[in-house]
Amino acid sequence: MNNLNQQNKNWKSKRKILLGISGGIAAYKIPYLVREIRKLNCEVEIIMTDSAKNFVTPMTLSTLSGRKVFTDSDFDFTIPHVNLTQWAEIFVVAPCTANTLGKFANGISDNLLTSAFTAANIPVIVFPAMNENMFDNPSTQKNLEILSKRGVTVVNPSYGDLACGISGRGRMPEPDEIMKEVLRVLSPVHDMAGKKVLITAGPTHEYIDPVRYISNPSSGKMGVAMARSAWYRGAEIKIIAGSVEIDSYGFEVIKVKSALEMFEAVKNNFEWADYIVMAAAVGDYRAKEFHAHKIKREGKGDFILELTQNPDIAAEIGKIKNDKILIGFAAETQNLIENAVSKLERKNLDYILVNDVLAENSGFQSDFNTLRLIDRDKNEFLFSGLKEDIAFEVLGNVIR
Ligand code: PMT
Repeated sequence: MNNLNQQNKNWKSKRKILLGISGGIAAYKIPYLVREIRKLNCEVEIIMTDSAKNFVTPMTLSTLSGRKVFTDSDFDFTIPHVNLTQWAEIFVVAPCTANTLGKFANGISDNLLTSAFTAANIPVIVFPAMNENMFDNPSTQKNLEILSKRGVTVVNPSYGDLACGISGRGRMPEPDEIMKEVLRVLSPVHDMAGKKVLITAGPTHEYIDPVRYISNPSSGKMGVAMARSAWYRGAEIKIIAGSVEIDSYGFEVIKVKSALEMFEAVKNNFEWADYIVMAAAVGDYRAKEFHAHKIKREGKGDFILELTQNPDIAAEIGKIKNDKILIGFAAETQNLIENAVSKLERKNLDYILVNDVLAENSGFQSDFNTLRLIDRDKNEFLFSGLKEDIAFEVLGNVIR
C-alpha cells in the first residue's frame, strides 16, 4: 500500500469536532449526533447557547460526549471561544437558528457560540433548521448567501414535518446524515469535485409471473460504498438501484427492477456521467415468457422454465464508451484473475474489481470485501476491509 492510501485509511476516526448548538427544536436530535460522532471514535467539544438549553440539557450532552459542555457562563479569561476553535478540525453548527445565522453573517459576537464562529479559522458547516417562512425570509436567505460566499458549507434543510405543525422546508437532516455531511468536508481529498459518477447497485429481479422472480443475494452495499466514497471525494452521484433498500442520502436514486430497466436507465444517464461504476449483480437471464397471471401448480408435473439472455449492459456501454471511465465488477467463484481479465477485455472496461463470492466475509451481503483491482495493463492491486473503506481506496487508485 502506498503512502497516500496508508494516510487515507481510517480517515474517519480520531477527528476533532467542535459542535455548536443554537436554540431550535431540532436540538433534541443532537444527543444522537453526539453518539454518531463517538461511534466513529472521534472527539467532540460542545458549545451551546442559553436558548439551546431549553431544548436539550448540558448534562445529557456532557454524559454522551464524555466532556464538559461549554455555555455562556464559561465565557471568561480562559478564552474558550479561541481555544476550542484552535483545537478542532471542523466547526459544526446544528441546529443553526435564523438568529444565530444572522449573527454569523454580520460579525455579531455576543455569546460564546457566535464568538467562536468569529474566531474560527477552520472549515465551518452549518445546518439551518427553522419554520419554512423563517427560512424563506429574504434576510435569512441573504445571510446564507453571505456565509456560502465566505466558504461556510451550508446544508439546506429538507422537506418534512416541522414542529410548527406544517409540512415544509426547514427540517434538519437526521444525525447520521449530518455525520455524512461532516465527513464529506473532512475527507482528506476532494479530487472528484465536479465529476459525475453513475453507479449501478443491487440485484435485478427477473419476473416469471406477478409473484415470482429470479434474482441473486446482492444487497447493494458494495455499490453504495462506491457511491458514498465518490461523494465524500466531492463527486455528484446518480445511483441506479435494483430492488433493495439503500442508504441514498445525497444521491439521486433511480429505482429499477429488471436488467432491461437497468439497461434503459444506464443508457438514459450515460451522457451525464464521467465515471460509470457497475457494481450491480445483473441477471444474465430472464424468463422467455412472462406469465401475466400466477402460474398454478395444480394438474402439472415438473415445470420447465425457458430463459433468454439479458443484454450485457457493461459490454453494450463499453462499445460507446468514448472518454468515460468504466469500472466493472466481477463476481467469481473460481479462476478469479483469468475470468476478470477476460471480462475487462470483452466489455472494454478501464478497470475491473474482482471478488471471490465464495470466500468468508466477502462478496454478497457482507459489510466486508476482498477485491482485486485490475487495470488495462493487467496491473493488480489488492484491497481488503470494510466495503466503504476499500471503496475509498479503490477510487484513490483509479483517480491517480
Ligand atoms: O451488493 P453486495 O451484497 O454488497 O454484493 C457485492 C457484489 C458481490 C454484488 C459486487 O461486489 C459485485 O461483484 N458485483 C458484480 C456482480 C456481477 O454481476 O458480476 P458478473 O461477473 O456477473 O458481471 C461482470 C460485470 O458486468 C459487472 O460489472 C456487472 O454489473 C456487469 N453485467 C453483468 C451482466 C449483465 N447482463 N450486464 C452487466 O452489465
